Amino acid sequence: MSSPLSHELIESIERLVGPAGLVRDPELMQGYLTDWRNAYQGLAALVVRPASTEALAAVVRLCHDAGVALVPQGGNTGLCGGSIPDASGRQVVLSLSRMKRIREIDLANETITVEAGVILQHLQEAASQAGRLFPLSLGAEGSCTVGGNLATNAGGTAVLRYGNMRELTLGLEVVLPDGRIWNGLRGLRKDNTGYDLKHLFIGSEGTLGIITAAVLKLFPATHSTATAWVALPSAQAAVDLIGHVRSLCADRLTGFEMMSRQSLAFVLEHVAGCSDPLDTPHPWYALIELRDTVPDAPLTQLLESGLSHAFEQGWVIDAVIASSQAQAAALWALREGISEAQNHEGPSLKHDISVPVSRIPEFIERTDRALQQDFPGVRIVSYGHMGDGNLHYNISKPVGHGDAPFKAQERAIMQVIYRMTSAFNGSISAEHGLGQAKPAAAAQFKDPLEIELMRAIKRTLDPAGLMNPGKVFASGLE
Ligand code: FAD
Ligand code: MLT
Ligand code: ZN
Repeated sequence: MSSPLSHELIESIERLVGPAGLVRDPELMQGYLTDWRNAYQGLAALVVRPASTEALAAVVRLCHDAGVALVPQGGNTGLCGGSIPDASGRQVVLSLSRMKRIREIDLANETITVEAGVILQHLQEAASQAGRLFPLSLGAEGSCTVGGNLATNAGGTAVLRYGNMRELTLGLEVVLPDGRIWNGLRGLRKDNTGYDLKHLFIGSEGTLGIITAAVLKLFPATHSTATAWVALPSAQAAVDLIGHVRSLCADRLTGFEMMSRQSLAFVLEHVAGCSDPLDTPHPWYALIELRDTVPDAPLTQLLESGLSHAFEQGWVIDAVIASSQAQAAALWALREGISEAQNHEGPSLKHDISVPVSRIPEFIERTDRALQQDFPGVRIVSYGHMGDGNLHYNISKPVGHGDAPFKAQERAIMQVIYRMTSAFNGSISAEHGLGQAKPAAAAQFKDPLEIELMRAIKRTLDPAGLMNPGKVFASGLE
């Protein structure tokens, strides 16, 4: 098949990135054209993998002048199809996978400067080798990249202590849609010289420019940990428990994940090596993690004292506290395995909503009821980052049903969940972004004035609409 790009353009790009920076073989391109779950597929004219900011900027300039649309891509673990090109075969995938240098660690400034293609786990390891902590932590950390984390403002399991990617970032380097390089790599904690432009690019899902490097915050390494797996009678008990643990442990509380029995049941069924830490099933569970920078801090005693009060109050039915790092890792595997486990049950309709923490129980109760009324038998896999009010309210098909009829109900199911989220003054996307999955829903549920302002920003930075078209906005620029 002939390429929709001119021969001259391809040759010019090849001169900039070298043969290793071009992927044209249809078989080799496949990995760039579908996401981690294989939920989205696209086509592309070319995959380009520049190895430096300058080369990347030059490629962007060439594509801009030729009117070619670009789709930035990191580890391809995003859950909304943001990194997948459309079906036209005319777009170019711009992969950051060769830009993976740790540029600088400044211990006195507590910062690390990295390129956007660095895998999150490698960043965590580099910080750890320097005696520091980079706290962003999520199930896909072995594959996702800093650029993807920034472009989606990733959260994860330590947000309640350290914040989202936005809170962890001090400076950015960005290639603008016309190929100019904005060097905002300032490691400053205070800078009030007008608008803070980095925040435009964080969470913009590749629609405003290409993030090529970042200055990120480092934190003191933690040397003590305590981890508990706790059975709860209700979601309300989780709210009561987190309030109590937080007031007792303050900043030592680094993780509080909640999950339903259905979530755990899928993990036990599908993830090898997992077993139920408790003897009998319970309606809800929480995974609690405390950390301290001090070695041998008495965290287990603190956790025990918190849990003993919770038992008395009836918030906790049963609990285990990990007695080794291996046991703690096994408990975390139960939580981190949910996403993968649910894939074995057919399509997972994902809704990463947020509501105020205090209202999570009422949200679950009312939404469960509404869904079961309209779609009897659907399996509701609700779990997530309780401390952030962020629920993964994912839906699997009823037992024995086919994938296709279930998928046909996706929009109707989404409407029930998002209407309820809206009634609770919540967000339809707390974590994963809009990608190509949710622009229409955002247009429906977000304040029209906010959408109008977002479009104005898009038009200013990307007047030709060449940066990841079809993502975030429902229909182009107009
Ligand atoms: P990609 O998927 O490649 O891209 C995501 C978006 O960012 C796309 O729109 C893409 O165009 C854009 N983009 C990528 N790189 C750049 C760049 N350099 N410049 C500009 N735009 C760019 N997410 C969470 O927030 N919290 C979680 O707890 C979490 N858990 C997950 C667990 C599993 C098992 C999986 C599979 C995913 C999970 N995710 C989670 C979602 C995903 O891992 C994150 O969104 C992650 O930040 C995406 O990084 P990536 O490098 O894979 O980005
Ligand atoms: C998680 O926290 O495990 C993911 O963000 C949720 C998901 O995969 O739906
Ligand atoms: Zn999550």
